[in-house]
Order: sequence, then C-alpha cells, then structure tokens
Amino acid sequence: MIKFTINGRAVTLDLEDHTPLLWAIRDDIGLTGTKFGCGIGLCGACTVHVGGRATRSCITPLGAVEGAEITTIEGLDPTASHPVQQAWAALQVPQCGYCQSGQIMQVAAMLKDFPMPTDKDIDAVMAGSLCRCMTYARIRAAIKKAAL
Ligand code: FES
Repeated sequence: MIKFTINGRAVTLDLEDHTPLLWAIRDDIGLTGTKFGCGIGLCGACTVHVGGRATRSCITPLGAVEGAEITTIEGLDPTASHPVQQAWAALQVPQCGYCQSGQIMQVAAMLKDFPMPTDKDIDAVMAGSLCRCMTYARIRAAIKKAAL
C-alpha cells in the first residue's frame, strides 16, 4: 500500500512501488490534466509538484512519494486563478494545449525560487519543458506577467 495526499486529499493505492506516479495520477486517481509525453523524463508534460517541487511524474516511482504532498494542475488553485494560470489565459499561451499543464506547474514552482526571473533563469528552468507548437515566446511573456 502506498499513501500520500494529492490536491489535499488523502489516497491509499494498492500498487507496486515501481509504478510510475503518472500512471497512478491518471489511471487510478482519475486526474487527467497531467499528461504523458515522452515517458522518460525529457519533455515536462507530466510535471506535478511533490512537496512543492516540480517533479517529472513519469519517472517518479510511487515508492518515492510515500507520505508526500502532491499537487497536480487540478489542485494548483481551486478556482484555476493562480497568477500563472491568469497570465496564461490573458496572453492566450496554449496552441494545442497538450504540454501546457506541465509548463504551468513548472513555472508555478519556479516562481517560488525566482519571484522575478531573468531570461537566464527562465532559460535554465524551462529548457526541459518542450512545446511542439513552439509557444515559447508566449510562455516567456506569461512568466514575466505572472511575476509582476
Ligand atoms: Fe514525463 Fe515527458 S512524459 S517528462
């Protein structure tokens, strides 16, 4: 049995320790805002917060999150009005949208460490969050808007 909290709700799962957190979030808990992209930790689509830190859920085994507090895009803000989400909406960042929950979770975690991120900070933190629609310019603008 693995126990943790997700978006403030306690869950207990009867799954193997090596099961990827992403599978549990989507298939067992039913929160599908977190996406599967590459499955090997390289694209960022599956990013959630574990203990407040941006974490690639596709390469995080359930055994590593025993007792942890996990937040997904559904739990970032109960009314979807987190400053990052507001900036994303105001600047119409998404195109196909597939990567955007991971992008938003990565940015929300980054702004805790870098409340006023420079371009260099953004490059360093966001380099591994890929967008096939190439919305990078809007992502950067939205990060700066959210940081204001
Ligand atoms: Fe996890 Fe790509 S699906 S990093």
